[in-house]
Amino acid sequence: MEAYSRISARYGIPIVEDAAHALGAAYEHRGAQVRIGSCVHADISIMSFHPIKHITTGEGGALLTNNKRIYERARRLRHHGIVKRASQPRWFYDIAELGYNYRITDFQCALGRSQLSRLDQFCKTRKALVRNYNSNFQHIPEISIPYERPGTTSSHHLYVIQVPHTKRQALYDYLFRLGIGTQVNYIPVHLLSYYRKKFGYRPGDFPNAERYYRRCLSLPLFPGLSEASQNFIVKQVKKFFQ
Ligand SMILES: Cc1ncc(COP(=O)(O)O)c(C=O)c1O
Repeated sequence: MEAYSRISARYGIPIVEDAAHALGAAYEHRGAQVRIGSCVHADISIMSFHPIKHITTGEGGALLTNNKRIYERARRLRHHGIVKRASQPRWFYDIAELGYNYRITDFQCALGRSQLSRLDQFCKTRKALVRNYNSNFQHIPEISIPYERPGTTSSHHLYVIQVPHTKRQALYDYLFRLGIGTQVNYIPVHLLSYYRKKFGYRPGDFPNAERYYRRCLSLPLFPGLSEASQNFIVKQVKKFFQ
């Protein structure tokens, strides 16, 4: 983010930081850990509260910013572009620009606030599950385990291992047959039909992303994953590679 913010400052390009996977994460800034969403390097940081994320409001998300102008415009656009002015009577309103109905419901907010109070515990549980996976898989030569870069704290949205690409599908099928759901996160954007058609991308354009894509597999990771279930998953993955 620091590198991006240098480019942003040089060319005047605003930064929207996609933190949809990172609520609860932190990175080092000027010798201290700052939490994602602090916008130390971004104009806007966005969060997703889809049920698969760290906390949920059913659907919806949030936009965080330290910039008053962006904050006021976002609030206006959320609510049909309606503005009120202190110089006018209290009943007065104006529409200064066309906005939207992007309001989250009160019911969702109630759930979100309750979920937010549990965020640290959710992240702690995820971290313990990740440590357990890692300590079990670190000595299996065919598995590359995920790691945290020094100075960063991951909120562990996904637990992605990398395996030889010739074995990925067989591992997926093997676990699927046992009732263990895994997923490939993600198919590189440039390989999706829309982006291929619109921008003329082709396989081979981003070889590192494609190499990762061929090798990656996400194992189950969520705060409600029981010790017994995780042990079963670990046992089966180990069995596959024996
Ligand atoms: C990295 C990332 N950014 C943005 C989004 C979009 O979030 P939402 O579906 O809440 O609009 C997602 C959704 O999964 C995501 O994974």
